[in-house]
Amino acid sequence: MKTVLITGCSSGFGLDTARYFLDRGWKVIATMRSPRSDLLPQSENLVVLPLDVTDDESVRQTVAAAGPIHVLVNNAGIGWMNALEGTPRDVARSVFETNTLGTMRMISAVLPQFRERKAGLIINVTSSVTMKPLPLLSVYTASKAAVNAFTESLAIELAPFGIAVKIVLPGAAPDTSFGSTAFSRLQESGGFPAAYAEFADEVIAAMRTPGAPKTLSADVAEAVWRAANDPSAPMRIPAGADAVALEA
Ligand SMILES: NC(=O)c1ccc[n+]([C@@H]2O[C@H](COP(=O)([O-])OP(=O)(O)OC[C@H]3O[C@@H](n4cnc5c(N)ncnc54)[C@H](OP(=O)(O)O)[C@@H]3O)[C@@H](O)[C@H]2O)c1
Repeated sequence: MKTVLITGCSSGFGLDTARYFLDRGWKVIATMRSPRSDLLPQSENLVVLPLDVTDDESVRQTVAAAGPIHVLVNNAGIGWMNALEGTPRDVARSVFETNTLGTMRMISAVLPQFRERKAGLIINVTSSVTMKPLPLLSVYTASKAAVNAFTESLAIELAPFGIAVKIVLPGAAPDTSFGSTAFSRLQESGGFPAAYAEFADEVIAAMRTPGAPKTLSADVAEAVWRAANDPSAPMRIPAGADAVALEA
């Protein structure tokens, strides 16, 4: 039986991906900042562990407790929408600490066992915003584009050890809690700077176009599943109708 460790399983893509792999007979290490046993179906193949990807000790303890794994899915992430001028430096740092360094931290923690076994797969969830620039998302986009570039270089240095690395790029998924969490963070930090307020209204109105193609959690779960199980899958896999259209 194969084992997958997924970060950020308390909601959204991570939760649905954990469910998807469990349903298909994998052992799933579902990690969450605040572990909950009531989110996923009871199963002897499910282990729920605490994990904060910004914390070295938490990463070390969780990877040790997980035991041998075959696939690591770096899904945990936070959003941020604002102009650069409305982005406090500590917010920019926290976005990179979670999205970029959190991914690196997790990979560093599993590499010794992957190298020893000369096998292993890492799947990094980034974003379709790295394929088409959008305004007011510069800091978030940079945190995810850095993961894309990092992954492409890492793939070459890990290939001699039999370790593969893939990227799943979801499109906009308004149905997860991602947008509302980012919006709360925006409000907590004082909102858009006055000089950008009118522009921000236009950008937000454009994002809410009814009927526009969007991404569902199920699209991301399927893309991660494909990355893990289809040896012919490309390194970059778009997830969701909007992301697939962009890639085309
Ligand atoms: N939704 C979109 O439009 C969209 C589009 C493209 C890419 N993405 C990316 O897809 C991934 C999942 O997003 P989602 O839409 O499923 O959002 P979500 O529902 O907000 O889920 C994000 C998950 O990441 C976890 N997380 C945040 N900070 C963490 C930390 N320091 N350590 C461990 N876990 C942490 C959250 O846990 P808590 O519950 O503890 O906060 C939550 O489980 C993210 O990487 C996001 O950047 C999202």
